[in-house]
Amino acid sequence: KRPLIVTLDGPAGAGKSTVAKAVADALEIAYLDTGAMFRSVAWALGADSWQMDHESLVRALESMEFDLHGQGPASYLTLNGQPMGADIRTETVGMWASHIAQLLPVREKLKQDQRRLGAKRDLVAEGRDMGSVVFPEACCKFFLVASAEERARRRWEQLRQMGQDPSYEGLVQQIRQRDAQDSQREFAPLRAAEDAMEIDTTTRSAQEVVERIVELVQRRR
Ligand code: C5P
Repeated sequence: KRPLIVTLDGPAGAGKSTVAKAVADALEIAYLDTGAMFRSVAWALGADSWQMDHESLVRALESMEFDLHGQGPASYLTLNGQPMGADIRTETVGMWASHIAQLLPVREKLKQDQRRLGAKRDLVAEGRDMGSVVFPEACCKFFLVASAEERARRRWEQLRQMGQDPSYEGLVQQIRQRDAQDSQREFAPLRAAEDAMEIDTTTRSAQEVVERIVELVQRRR
């Protein structure tokens, strides 16, 4: 029997992480945060990575090995054996990630790793292109959206909780910029898979969204 794959895509701040963790918890399966993979690559390569020459980039990517451990909200990724730290969770690293996510060698490398991680286990896979590119055969695909202002407000709260002091206006601007960059790129642009169900989370609680998704998955499982 093929593993159960639930894909959860959408723009930054649409509530994907919160919802994905809770869905993984309810279904008792692993949770794959693919944004963390792009962030880790960006972090490992540094600020100028998107200007690296092709050969150095390919060599650097070959030396990176991702693994997934645990289940539910306790799932965690390692890069070359090291769990990913809080230092990949800044807006700056998010922006770097969005830059390197445009590079074909990076997308190909991570797509391969994501498929390998999903080949042997049931998974909630969260990202931008899980339903459209990486797991086109997934049984249950969801695309979360929310207004830019609401997403900025959520990001603001999240960053405050991590001890950072972001400006709300700055966040709205960054979110718009990252949306544009993620939607307009040549390879695997941000878009809903044709067979994905779109859920607007602007005025819905996370719990409401989770219940809806879990119910649908249970029906199809
Ligand atoms: O979701 P998160 O904000 O952590 O992702 C960081 C960046 O990584 C995104 O802005 C996007 O450019 C990139 N990404 C991607 N494909 C994915 C997940 C993330 O291109 N599946």
